Amino acid sequence: MTVPMPTLPARWQQCATCGMRLGELDPSTSCPACGGMLDVKFHLPDSGTDLRRQFDARQGRIGSPYRTSGVWRYAELIFDTDPRRVVSFPEGNTPLMVSEQTADWAECTGLLLKHEGMNPTGSFKDRGMTVGVTQARRIGASAVACASTGNTSASLAAYAALAGLPALVLVPSGGIAIGKLTQTLAYGARTLAVRADFDACLVLARQVADQLGVYLLNSVNPYRVEGQKSIVFELLQQLEWQSPDWIALPAGNLGNTAAFGKAIDEALSCGLIDTAPRLLAVQAMGASPFQRSYRTGFAERHSMTAETIASAIRIGNPASWERAARAIRVTNGVVVAVDDEAILDAQAVIGAAGVGCEPASAASVAGVRQAVREGLVRRDDRVVAVLTGHVLKDPGILLWYHQDAEPPPPRRNAPIEIEASVRQVERHLRLARSTP
Ligand code: F0G
Repeated sequence: MTVPMPTLPARWQQCATCGMRLGELDPSTSCPACGGMLDVKFHLPDSGTDLRRQFDARQGRIGSPYRTSGVWRYAELIFDTDPRRVVSFPEGNTPLMVSEQTADWAECTGLLLKHEGMNPTGSFKDRGMTVGVTQARRIGASAVACASTGNTSASLAAYAALAGLPALVLVPSGGIAIGKLTQTLAYGARTLAVRADFDACLVLARQVADQLGVYLLNSVNPYRVEGQKSIVFELLQQLEWQSPDWIALPAGNLGNTAAFGKAIDEALSCGLIDTAPRLLAVQAMGASPFQRSYRTGFAERHSMTAETIASAIRIGNPASWERAARAIRVTNGVVVAVDDEAILDAQAVIGAAGVGCEPASAASVAGVRQAVREGLVRRDDRVVAVLTGHVLKDPGILLWYHQDAEPPPPRRNAPIEIEASVRQVERHLRLARSTP
């Protein structure tokens, strides 16, 4: 079967604040005139039916990334380029899962889990990074860089290695989870542990990009956002192009919230779907500047010193505030904040269901439960909660929770030391059977 090649509509970058247009190869990651955020713009294809057919035909395990990647499959709505120039592992193709235990805990019978931890480096960041690093190669970047709470750095390191590009990452010293740090080191990025929090690392990374000419691959880069839109396209395709009522996601620097809003807007405009899902953006209570703004109808922008056990979203001054606010508005969305206790509880439930995820990801499920309890989401609504990162990303939190935390948390599952004795094992088998 031949796979139709994508048509090549014109593409450009545009400032969301002042409307200034830049060429698609311009390496700026903010507007040179006013400092605003840039969006990638393109002429949307006009037939949703044709697009659906095209996307459905592009399933395959080998060959072009337009077939193998769950990002490049949607090239017409993301970024058309020569498939031979694409930097892809491939990524995406993540499962949409049913977990009854998790749905019970969240008090939402229609809950589905989109497990982005199943990406090549264990987080959703790979979807933006395949596009960002492909663009880095297109524009002839000599090096790539990012600030990160850990997942972006792991992803950047891997994709830069694949592309043969030098990578520089700035992470808060002592502030990122061990799985993410070890990945970043293993994939060979030059890793700078900055004595500052993530927000300061991002300011530094932007200065570095401006002054030293490296290509910045944080989600302020509009091509990262384009790749992350594919989470929405893929889950819609998995639901046979029927929108769920809600998509719940954890919100930190707000790049993903912005990407989801753009994806939904474009999917609606080109007729890929008939109705829009609503966004449920979930922040950790100790890092909830966006939720505070939401409560004032986005009248003012808040920032705060962030503190939460969910280190991925420990962010107090999110860069994509404006475009995320737009995403919440256009999808009639909601923003909630959940405390660390609820995040840990949700993480333990998702883990015990055999699914597993990192703490920030569990925030989306904790947010669903809270939204159901507040009457924002109906119990039988179809809700897709995005699990953004793999359970092995943050083993430190899991060991603390299951082994060391005092008082013992409700779902602790500590290892039990025994002698090498069948009798002792038998006793534990009995106990395991009596408490399934
Ligand atoms: N979940 C995980 C696992 C993350 O790593 C992040 C962000 C988010 C959710 C929030 O996404 O920032 O687009 O709102 N991690 C970034 C990083 C900041 O550096 O890895 P966001």
